[in-house]
Parts: sequence; C-alpha cells; structure tokens
Amino acid sequence: MENISVAAARRPDAVGSNVGLRGWVRTRRDSKGGFSFLEINDGSCFANIQVIADGSLPNYEDVIRHLSPGCSIAVQGEIKASPGKGQSTEMHAQEIMLYGQADTETYPLQKKRHSFEFLRTIAHLRPRTNTFGAVARVRNRISRSIHDFFQEEGFLHIHTPIISASDCEGAGELFRVTSLDLANVPKQDGKVDFARDFFEVPSFLTVSGQLQAEAFACSLGKVYTFGPTFRAENSNTSRHLAEFWMIEPEMAFFELPDNMDLAERFLKRIIQDVLADCEEDMQFFQQRIEKTILETLRKVSESQFVRLPYTEAVQVLEKSGESFEYPVQWGHDLQAEHERFLTEQHFQSPVILYDYPRGIKPFYMRVNDDEKTVRAMDVLVPKVGEIIGGSQREERLDVVESRMREQGLDPDAYGWYLDLRRYGTVPHSGFGLGLERMVQFVTGMANIRDVIPFPRTPGNAEF
Ligand code: 4AD
Ligand code: MG
Repeated sequence: MENISVAAARRPDAVGSNVGLRGWVRTRRDSKGGFSFLEINDGSCFANIQVIADGSLPNYEDVIRHLSPGCSIAVQGEIKASPGKGQSTEMHAQEIMLYGQADTETYPLQKKRHSFEFLRTIAHLRPRTNTFGAVARVRNRISRSIHDFFQEEGFLHIHTPIISASDCEGAGELFRVTSLDLANVPKQDGKVDFARDFFEVPSFLTVSGQLQAEAFACSLGKVYTFGPTFRAENSNTSRHLAEFWMIEPEMAFFELPDNMDLAERFLKRIIQDVLADCEEDMQFFQQRIEKTILETLRKVSESQFVRLPYTEAVQVLEKSGESFEYPVQWGHDLQAEHERFLTEQHFQSPVILYDYPRGIKPFYMRVNDDEKTVRAMDVLVPKVGEIIGGSQREERLDVVESRMREQGLDPDAYGWYLDLRRYGTVPHSGFGLGLERMVQFVTGMANIRDVIPFPRTPGNAEF
C-alpha cells in the first residue's frame, strides 16, 4: 500500500483511496460507541488528519486505546469524505502499527500550549508543536523564494568560505578558529605565534561573505551567497543571534539606486510567495501570533518603500517631539526605537535610509562627494527594524586604502581585496538580508530565537 503525506490525504481528491500514513499522534479521544479518534500530524502541513480507529481492530484494547501525544504510528486505511467541519477528509483505519511510545509521565509536550521560553529549553522537541512546524515551513518557503528570485534574475550562486582571516565589517566581533592547544599556546616575543597555528594566520568564523562575493561579482557580474555568518557580539536582544544566515547579492555595475530597487523587489517577491503558498501557516500566525500580520504583508508587498537620506531621517526624529530613551544625534547610529518610530509611526511603511555618516559605516562603502557620508543603505521594516544592510562599494583604490587606515585596518592585510580595485575596477553594489529577521517579519514572531532551529546566543549552544 502506498504511503502518502497528511497534506496529500487531506486533499479532496484523495477520497476513496486506500493508503498508508505515518506520523505522530497529537491527540486521542475515545468515543462511547467503542471507537477512537486520533489526530495525526506528519509535518507536511499545518493541519492534522483525523483517523477513526474502530474497536474491532485486533490491537484496539492493547495498543490503540493507549496511544498518547507524541507516539509514532503507521496507519493503513481508506480516505473518506469527512462530515466534520474544518476538514474535508478523514481516514478509516484498517490497521495501526505503533513505532514508538511517548511516556505520558515524562513526554514534555502533553499540554496544548507552552511558553516559548519553555520550548527553548526543549529545542529538539519544539518542532513537534504547531508554531515551530509553521515557522519551519515558512522559513523553507522563504529560502526557496530567495533562490528562485536570484536564479530567475540571472545571478550565480557562490559558496563563500566560512573560515576567513578578514573582518569584513571591521567591528571586531569575531569568533576565533584555531587548532592551537589553549592550555599551551606557542608564543614568540610574548605574543601568540600564529605561524604555528593551522592556517598560519589569525583566522575567524566569517561575519559576512561580502568581500569574497565582490571578487566574483567583479569577474562574473551578478552573484549571491547564502550562508551562515557568526558574530561574537554580546547582545541579548530579540533580534540578535551569534550564528545567523545571510543572503548577500553582489552586482557589478550597480549603483546605489539599482541596489535599492533590487532589495525592494526581492523583499516583495518573498512576501508574495509566502502569502501564495503558506496559507494555513499564515492563518495560524495571524490568529495566534500577530493579529495584523496578513494585512501588513499585503500592504508592504503593494507599497512603495520610502527612501530617505540619513540626514533627513535625523531631522524627522528631532522634529517628532517624541521623547526617546537615546537622544538622536547626527553621526550616531540610530537606535531600534528611532527605527521603529520611522517605520511604525511616521511613515507606516518600510523605509530605506541611505547616505549614512562615514564614521559609523565600514571601510568598503563608497564615499560621497560631500566627504561626510557614504553610499550606505539600510532597509528598515516595522517591528523588526533593520532587515537589510548594504551599500555601493568604494571602487577607487586610493580612497578605500585611506578608509582602511581611518578605521585602524592594515591595507596590507587586504591585498587581495585591493587587487579588485587595481585591476579593472568597476562600480558595484550589494546588500545582506538577515534570513532570521525576514522570517520574523513574515511570521510576526517576536523573538529571533524562535525562528531558527537551534539558536546560538551568549551562553547557549547546548543543542
Ligand atoms: O548590516 P550588516 O552587518 O551588513 C553586512 O554584513 C554586509 N557585509 C552585507 C552586505 O552588504 N553584503 O548585516 C546584514 C543584515 C542585517 O541587516 C540584519 O538583517 C542581519 O544581517 N544581521 C543579523 N541578524 C541576526 N543576528 C545578528 N547578530 C545580525 N547582525 C546582522
Ligand atoms: Mg547593518
């Protein structure tokens, strides 16, 4: 007998077929008439399928009447049209086989609802809950949409390295990679002798694939990288992870407005794909997580993003009359509260801020003619804040070298990167989308730890 998914069995065209299903019991309810209802989920869709197990089945008393949440089973039977509401089909079991028990005394997912804090302590079991199943499916749809978008636009997918000697963002938030014995570190003149380390230079987990993506964009045109990135910033917020996934397109011959156009189309495409293909999951987020999520996403996918220079944003904030916890000052990074004011109150729309002060942005961003600002762009969205960071890149050799020195970086350590300016330099641009922030934005999930399978944050690497 053919095994099918719960998603397939729930479709009206499955009625009349004799098939097998395999999954995990969510609930069991016994009827007075001597039969039982089982709700089975296999992750293929949000909904469960109802299985009706008749008391005449040979293992009814010994097995079926003891099935509890979390038990894994295989069922064979016929799919029939269901008279129940909220479902068009149900299965009438001819045979039920138990794979594994889930002890009712100890299985942690007995209750219907648990706090997200508690579920983080059982990150290996939380994908069995409605919320985390829905997050996993939406995250998967977003990943697919990202590849579809760039492939259709003629981008090459590049795999950039995870281990790197360069700090792309220059923020010093690096995790070191070493094979040295930490209890017995070799030294030379009082300093660690990295010549005896595995890579013979200080090496780190990458904070961004951008610099390597630039090498490929400045050879092959339009590329993107999609990989894990690592930041040892000690920020315990609902928007920061120490390990997160980033999508970084990089395009030769693109200037900042081209970069903004691409970013805007890209975000809208992802939203449209999720709205089209994740209806049940999105209904759940709307009902249980964020009451306005569908309306917000529809609006964003049809709106035009506001584009505003940083300097004007500072003026808007200064004139707002709001009392912010952190004062607004030209030359300083905007705080989350400032970003939220702009997107949620003032413009009520995603906002692309650009032309930031040079002092708060990395060396690789192109310096504007005013010498004070660089061709940076941050895409801000309601609730989440910064979802994309990007820029037009500095393509002039002398300028990028002096920017490195300005930021305390040694140009000699970036010789290969400077070669891209020495030989056939071109204007080019790119950006990075934080995947988890995108999943947060689309699902309305408040904490970034709940949109990645196994979150890595300060003090947390257990699972
Ligand atoms: O703004 P960021 O630091 O930009 C870069 O890394 C550039 N090299 C990208 C590029 O131009 N190719 O990071 C980009 C995005 C942010 O906008 C945010 O969405 C996400 O990555 N991000 C984080 N997400 C989760 N946890 C963190 N600690 C993050 N830091 C950045
Ligand atoms: Mg940024």
